[in-house]
This record gives sequence, C-alpha cells and structure tokens, in this order.
Amino acid sequence: MYSLMNEISDTYCERFLEYADKQELIDMKALNSLFTLDNIASCLFGVETNSLQNENVTLINYLKKFFNRGLSNIILIIYFISPQLAMYFGKKGYSMFPKDAVDYTTNLLNQILARRRQHLERRNDFIQMMIDHEEEVNHEENRTNQQTDKKEQQQQQQQWGTLRKTLNDKEILSQAVVFLLAGYETTSILMSCFFYIMATEPVIQEKVYEEIRQEIGDDEVTHEKLNQLQYLDMVISETLRRYPPGIRFDRIAACDYQLGDYQIPKGTIVNVSVYPIHHDPDVWPDPEKFIPERFLPSEKAKRHPMTYLPFGDGPRNCIGMRFALLEAKLGIVKALRAVEFQKCEKTAVPLQLGKFEIINTKIGVWLRVVRRSQ
Ligand code: HEM
Repeated sequence: MYSLMNEISDTYCERFLEYADKQELIDMKALNSLFTLDNIASCLFGVETNSLQNENVTLINYLKKFFNRGLSNIILIIYFISPQLAMYFGKKGYSMFPKDAVDYTTNLLNQILARRRQHLERRNDFIQMMIDHEEEVNHEENRTNQQTDKKEQQQQQQQWGTLRKTLNDKEILSQAVVFLLAGYETTSILMSCFFYIMATEPVIQEKVYEEIRQEIGDDEVTHEKLNQLQYLDMVISETLRRYPPGIRFDRIAACDYQLGDYQIPKGTIVNVSVYPIHHDPDVWPDPEKFIPERFLPSEKAKRHPMTYLPFGDGPRNCIGMRFALLEAKLGIVKALRAVEFQKCEKTAVPLQLGKFEIINTKIGVWLRVVRRSQ
C-alpha cells in the first residue's frame, strides 16, 4: 500500500507548488479531504479517484454524500442519543446514508470484486487482501476434504482454525464503508490542524523542516526514514492532543464495576470524553499551549496512559492508526520539503472548531504557501 500512498502524496505536493506559483490561498481542509479520500479509495476500494487532480469525479461526489449528512439527518441524531433506537430504525429499513450513494458504491464494489475474482486485475490493496484470503481458504478446504486420513483431516482443520472465516460481499462492502467513514475525515482534520500549527508557530515549522532535511534531505521518503523523524512524531502527537479528531468514544460495561465513588451497573453506556481529558490542566499544564516536548519519552513516562486517547484504547481501539499516521507523515514530509506554510488574511486564529462527535473546523483552514528555495 505504501507505493499507492507514495504516488498520491506526490500529486499532493504538486498541488502545493501550483498554489505557491499562482500565489493563491488554500483551504487546507478542502485539499486534505481530497488527499485522504484518494488514499482511502485507492488503498481500500481499489479505485484511483484522482480527486486531487479532478474534483468532479462521480465516485467522489457519491463518497462525499456519506459525510454531508449534517444535523438535518434525524437518524444520525437518534444514533448519538440512543444507539438501540437507531438499530431498531435500521432494521425497519431507515438508513443514515443516502440511498443513491449506497447503491452506486455497492455496484462499483461488486464490479471490482468480480474483476478481481476473475483475475482480470490485481492491486496491492484491502480488497485484494480479502480476495487472496478467500482463495487461500478455499484452496485449503479442498485440500483438507481430499484427505483420506480422518485424523490428519481433523488436525488440519484445527491448525487452520479461525482463519477459515472469509467475508461475504456484503461484509467486504460494509468493512470498506466503515474504513471510509472512520478514516477519511479524521485524518484530514489531523493534517489541517497540523498545517495550521506550522503556519502559526513558525519556530516549530522550522524545527520540523530542519529534521526532515537532516534525516531525509532530497532522498526518497521511505517508511524507515519516516520512523526516524522523532520531532515530527512529537508535533503530530501534540496536534492530536490539542485537536483530537474523535472527541469521544463509548463503551458498554461488561460487568458491574466500582469506579471510585461511582457504581457502574453492567450494560451502562460509558462515554469517554477525549477532548476534556486532553485539556485537563492537572495532566497537561497550560493545556491551550502547543508544546511538542510534552511527548518526549521522559515526559510520556510520567503520565497515566489513559490521559492521551486520540485513537482510543483497548481491544477496540482505532484499527487504522498506523495507516493514518503513515499517510499523514508521507503527505506532510513531501509538502514541507517543497513549500513553507504561512498565515494569511483569511486564517482564523484561533481555529474555529465545531465539536459534534468529530472535531471540525467551521470555516476551513486558510493558509498561504511559498516555494522553498532549496
Ligand atoms: C487521525 C486519524 C484517526 C483518528 C484520530 C481515529 C480515531 C479513532 C477513534 C478514537 C476510534 C474509537 C476507538 C475506541 O473506541 O477505543 C477509532 C475507531 C476506528 N477507526 Fe480510527 N481514527 C483515525 C483514522 C482511521 C483510519 C485511516 C481508518 C481506516 C483506514 C480508521 C478505522 C477505524 C475503525 C474501523 C474503527 C473501529 C474499530 C473497532 O470498533 O474495533 N481510523 N478511530
């Protein structure tokens, strides 16, 4: 998947150079949405949307409809107030997503699955992983069934165990849509807030840039090289602390539990409020200040791990964390090597945030970019 992401981040970088040469202001939120949509569509759906080059692609317009739900969507509001009631409405056939968007995406995905199963195309993406696994399981099952020795048959079945599970087409589609919903806007918000910090904290931008020059220079940006950028990692962590894209998540109590003075009965929906935890002055002194050094290993060791939860925690934490960080770092490094980010007359300082389940910028993040001389 790295090579797919690499190509998209090159196009992303070219867009910055175009903006710089034309001296046009950029709405980073809009541009980053195209970047993350291209990444997810390419790495998960197996489709090259190229929305960074051409925004008016049918698939893009349908995919965007999954997000343009707004407060007018009554099912969405019910979902946040009462997930059980939302499930009831779901069973009755009501959906929080527009039917035309669901139909178009389903048809497209079915066509892709059919082409892949007939071996007419192959790409290094999520859909291919599902198909390869399916073929492997079928192959293994045929081999086991042909075994005449019953004991050996049983042994093979045990060895293969739970890996035998394959997903049907509906499940593959559902997984792809879940990944799309969970990964598109969150990563785009992280990147928009990151570049806002670059523009408003020029000293920090310079330090990040210097580290990139020192560790990577003009060389190819590899996965290994990205992992060496420790200061960048700290700045991204502080961005996620200051502006956690997911401002809360829920858990259902699996048993009765005494938490300090609170008795939590089994079955209670517990809301974990990430944003307030990330701004608790007892844990994060001067919480509104942007201080990447909070994430030095020695500082991190002093804090309780549950005080920093941008990707949740436990067995149901964010499955796309590595994907998101890799995608963001790749885009960031290529962009910062090419251009410098600056505040402009349209930059809203401080950021104007909407906080409805996912943190968001109310009026975009407008910045200016200037070509770097070297
Ligand atoms: C900066 C980007 C991202 C942030 C901040 C983020 C944050 C989160 C959070 C807070 C949760 C809930 C975790 C919990 O309940 O403990 C979550 C779940 C999830 N995320 Fe992400 N996410 C990001 C990117 C992505 C990407 C790129 C993908 C997919 C490619 C993704 C897929 C998922 C999925 C599938 C879940 C549900 C996991 C489950 O219920 O088992 N996320 N994410």
